[in-house]
Amino acid sequence: MFKTNYTELSEFVFLGLSTSRPIQHFFLAFSMVFYVAIVLGNTLVVLTVAFDPHLHFPMYFLLGNLSFIDLCLSTLTVPKMISDLSSGHNTISFQGCVFQIFVLHVLGGSEMVLLIAMAWDRYVAICKPLHYLTIMSPQRCLLLLSSAWVIGLLHSVAQLAFVVHLNFCGPNKIDSFYCDLPQFIKLACAERHIMQFMVTANSGFISVGTFFLLIISYIVILFTVRKHSSGDLSKAFSTLSAHISVVILFFGPCIIVYMWPFPTFPMDKFLAILDFMITPILNPAIYTLRNKDMKVAMRRMITQLLKMIKMS
Ligand SMILES: *[C@@H]1O[C@H](CO)[C@@H](O)[C@H](O)[C@H]1NC(C)=O
Repeated sequence: MFKTNYTELSEFVFLGLSTSRPIQHFFLAFSMVFYVAIVLGNTLVVLTVAFDPHLHFPMYFLLGNLSFIDLCLSTLTVPKMISDLSSGHNTISFQGCVFQIFVLHVLGGSEMVLLIAMAWDRYVAICKPLHYLTIMSPQRCLLLLSSAWVIGLLHSVAQLAFVVHLNFCGPNKIDSFYCDLPQFIKLACAERHIMQFMVTANSGFISVGTFFLLIISYIVILFTVRKHSSGDLSKAFSTLSAHISVVILFFGPCIIVYMWPFPTFPMDKFLAILDFMITPILNPAIYTLRNKDMKVAMRRMITQLLKMIKMS
């Protein structure tokens, strides 16, 4: 057996979205505006759900938890990207990179399970309205949410268990603005193909499987609505089509990033913007602002917050 001399990499360099200064300025302004909107919108949803007793129902807990995950998902990547763009200092430590991958997969995995739980919640509400409160009890809701987090954690541990023992011998350049498995594995000295297969088998399979499960559930809901009450069809259709567009926007990038057979698909990093900046803003807008009770509660919350600010 020969002994290989691996130089330990202590940090990675992000190549970012573009090397052109004007385009970097554009992305800087764009991501700052979007990040502020994401933080304000999602924090407002989380606070409203947590503090408004009128909203202590399973559906709102699901929405609150979705906003919380979106907020974390953006905060994991966007502030680092903003600071890189403004300082020009684009490095991340090895531990930082592994941490980003780990948390990203916990959050991403949990969000996928949560979206399934929300589709199921809509299915019960629309197709079995009389049994809604017994089927969707607070205990069942808590069970759904805990399993979302546990599945996210297991998925992430299962992914990282395969890559932690990889050796990195350089180059240390990541052609993106955040760390994720496809780019990370590409930099390993050996076993790249096996690892790529593991990522496709795990993350790719989960993304595609969840996506089809969600699309099929929405089709089932639509057919059920059409069979039972033709009058409600257009309202249900507009709600469900909003949900379906979020699902496509969220899963499209995941599926392409993890399933694409060529590891250097140059659009990956731009597609990732959809998941870190566009869906986190669309989720509160689509799932929450279309709901009347939620809108009323949010207005109450804003009034109270403003009063508190004025008094202090
Ligand atoms: C998430 O769901 C749990 C349990 O149903 C609930 O108690 C909690 O308030 C929710 N979290 C948010 C941020 O809405």
